[in-house]
Amino acid sequence: MARNWRVKTVEQSIRETDEPGHQLKRNLRTWDLIVFGVGVIVGTGIFVLTGQQAAINAGPAVVLSFLIAGITCAFAALCYAELASAVPVAGSAYTFAYATLGEVVAWIIGWDLLLELMLGAAVVARGWSAYLQSLLNLPSWMAGDEAWPDPAAIIIVLLLALLLVRGSKTASRFTGVLVVVKIAVVLLVIVVGAMHIDTANYSPFIPPAGPAPAGTEGILHQPIVQAFLGLEPTTFGVFGVIAASSVVFFAFIGFDIVATTAEETKNPQRDMPRGILGSLAICTVLYMAVAAVLTGMVPYGELNTGAPLAEAFDAIGITWAAKIIALGAVAGITTVILVLMLGQTRVVFAMARDHLLPAGLARVHPKYGTPWVITAIVATIVALLAGFVPLSALSELVSIGTLFAFVVVCVGVLVLRRTRPELPRRFRTPWVPVVPVLGVLACGWLMLNLPLETWLRFLIWMVIGVAIYLLYGRRHSRFAAGQPAREPAVGDQGIADAVDLPLP
Ligand code: ALA
Repeated sequence: MARNWRVKTVEQSIRETDEPGHQLKRNLRTWDLIVFGVGVIVGTGIFVLTGQQAAINAGPAVVLSFLIAGITCAFAALCYAELASAVPVAGSAYTFAYATLGEVVAWIIGWDLLLELMLGAAVVARGWSAYLQSLLNLPSWMAGDEAWPDPAAIIIVLLLALLLVRGSKTASRFTGVLVVVKIAVVLLVIVVGAMHIDTANYSPFIPPAGPAPAGTEGILHQPIVQAFLGLEPTTFGVFGVIAASSVVFFAFIGFDIVATTAEETKNPQRDMPRGILGSLAICTVLYMAVAAVLTGMVPYGELNTGAPLAEAFDAIGITWAAKIIALGAVAGITTVILVLMLGQTRVVFAMARDHLLPAGLARVHPKYGTPWVITAIVATIVALLAGFVPLSALSELVSIGTLFAFVVVCVGVLVLRRTRPELPRRFRTPWVPVVPVLGVLACGWLMLNLPLETWLRFLIWMVIGVAIYLLYGRRHSRFAAGQPAREPAVGDQGIADAVDLPLP
C-alpha cells in the first residue's frame, strides 16, 4: 500500500539531508526563525487589505475577521509545528506530504506551493514598487502600477536573489534590520492612532447586510459557496465578516514558510515550533490592534483606498505619517519578497533532490552552501512575472494555494499519528484529532468563501501540475526507481522545462 502511494519514510527523508553536495548549512536559531516569520508575514496585507475590507465587507468588525483568520492559521500552525519537529527537512508541506500521504500528494503540494511562493513573491514585488514610487515620488515609468515593464520590481527581485545566494544567515541579518523598521512603523501606527480613536466610529460594529455593489455581482466574483447555493450576493453582516477573513488571510501567509528552513536550523525539533507559533502570535496581536485603531480613527466607509493607513492619518490631520508609513511598507515588503523566494528555493530544492524535478538543480554552492542554481531560476521567473504580468487580481490565487497546503498538513498530522505513533515528536499538536480536524474545516471554509473565478484558476493550475507529474516526475522519481542518490543524468534539462509554464 505504502509502496503504491510511494510514501517516503521519515528516516529516509532525514538521511537524504546528509548527502554530499546537497547539504545545507545549519546556522539558524529560534530568533532567526521568528525574524523570518515576522519578516514574511507582515506585508501588503496589513498595509492595504485592512482598510479595504473594513470598507467593503466587514466594517469595524474587520477586527473579528483578523481574529477568525488568525485562529484558522493557529490550527494549521500547531500542525506545522508538529510535522516540522518530526520531519526537520527542507521543503515544508511538500516534505510532510511525502512522509505521510505519498508522492502524488507531495507533488501536488509542491506544485501548489509555487502559487503561494513564486506567484506570491511576484504579487508582493509589484506592491513594493507602488509604495516605492509614492515614497520617492518616482516617475511612473520607473515604478508603480502604471510602469510596464516595471523596472523597480525586477531590480528588487534580482538584488534579493543575490543576497539569498550569500546564505540564509546573511539573509536573516538583513531581514532583521528591516523587520525592526517595519515593526516600529506598525507600533507607531497603533500608538499614535490609539490617541485619535473616536468610539462613535465603532458603531455599527457589524454593519447590517446589504446588496453587493454594482460590478461585483457576477457569478465569477461571488464566493463559491454563495454561487453554488444560489444565494443573493451581499456585503457586510456576519457573512461579510467571514468573507473578509478569507481575504485578510493573505496577511497571515508566511508563518508556514518558516518550516521550509528546517534543514538550516541548528536544533529544529526545539526551534521550529517556537519560530512558527511565535511569529504567528506576534502578528495576530499586531494585526488586530492595527485593525481596531484604523476603524476607530475614521468611519470605515472612507477606508477603501490603495493606502488606507496613510490616508487615515491624513484624514485626522497627521500628514507626516504618510511618508513614515510608506517607508515602513517599503522596508516591510522587501523582507516579504525575500523570504517568499527563500521558501520557494527550499521547496524546489527538496523536489529536485527527490528527482521530481531535474536532480542537477539541487546542487549547492561550494562556498555559501545555498542552492544557487535554483535561486537563480526562481529569481528569473519571479522577476519576469513581477515585471511584465499584471498581477493585482491574483492575490486570492496565492491565498487559495496556501489554504490548500494547510489542509494537507492538518491531514498529515492525523495520518502520521496513525502510521508512526512511536516517532519522536518534540512538539505534539494538542487535542488531536480535534485541532487538525478544526484546521481542515476552518481552512476549507475560508476556501469556500473565495470567488468562483479563483477556484477555476486554481483548478487549471493543478491540472497542469498533474500533467507534468505524469509526464516527468512519476518516471524520474528517485523513489520509484528505488535508487540511492544519483548524480544528475543526461536529460535532466533544467527547471525551465518543468516550471516555466504560463500562469492561469
Ligand atoms: N503576508 C504577506 C503579506 O501580507 C504575504 O504581504
